[in-house]
Amino acid sequence: MSEKQVVSGESRPRRTAPSFVDQKRRGEVITVVTAYDHPSARLADAAGIDAILVGDSVGTVVLGYESTLPVTMADMLHHTRAVVRARPRALVIGDMPFMSYQVSDDQAVENAGRLVQEGGADAIKLEGGKRVAGAVRRIVAAGIPVMGHLGLTPQSVLAFGGYKVQARGEAGQEQLIDDARALEAAGCFAIVLEGIPAKLGAQVSRELTIPTIGIGAGVQCDGQVLVLHDLLGLYHGHQPRFVRRYAELGEAMRDAVARYIDDVRARRFPSEGESY
Ligand code: KIV
Repeated sequence: MSEKQVVSGESRPRRTAPSFVDQKRRGEVITVVTAYDHPSARLADAAGIDAILVGDSVGTVVLGYESTLPVTMADMLHHTRAVVRARPRALVIGDMPFMSYQVSDDQAVENAGRLVQEGGADAIKLEGGKRVAGAVRRIVAAGIPVMGHLGLTPQSVLAFGGYKVQARGEAGQEQLIDDARALEAAGCFAIVLEGIPAKLGAQVSRELTIPTIGIGAGVQCDGQVLVLHDLLGLYHGHQPRFVRRYAELGEAMRDAVARYIDDVRARRFPSEGESY
């Protein structure tokens, strides 16, 4: 079955990293969402998503940390395996956590290899531009597809002094364009652009042959990614303005649990005579 015949759900062929570059060439918008567990991965895949990012955002939206900095390789392997066990048709991208690739290029290749070999990921993502281009080259040479990540890269929150839109000034914009070119030249198959002016998101998308995946980077990116818990209304920490909530599952869950409590207390659950 060719990719063209595919609509959504389980009949789709499995996505590969090179197919994302073809998708951009065809002018088809790319859809990406995060997921960190088996049921969410199954549901996102059944909805027809192109790629599932097992993001280190798991640290803030699932594990209760204040930033992504405490997330470890062990956390990422645990959650990547859970997603992969859903056998999605979507591409599964495992995120490299803070300090898993910054020490040396050798360390970067080794940990990228662990996400593929032990976690089952189809590709990995790491943050940074020119300064990680050497690591990207080495990982790609090992046969592992790499997604880049530029702009408001959350692992640099301490250096940025908070979660602030990046590349507002001319120098910052030129730097980001240079970084994007360096990542493309190093062999990335796609680049996440986070928290940058929409005009810059559009310019980078025009200049690269690999797709850009935006999050708070404007509608002209080649694709979009959202954190699943933001999209579903399941996360009640800080939410940037660009986030669109497609459901209020947090409220629905709280109401469901409250109704269960009422039923148990009133002996309406279980029903009379009902047992295992
Ligand atoms: O960890 C994550 O979820 C991410 C996306 C926000 C791009 O890096």
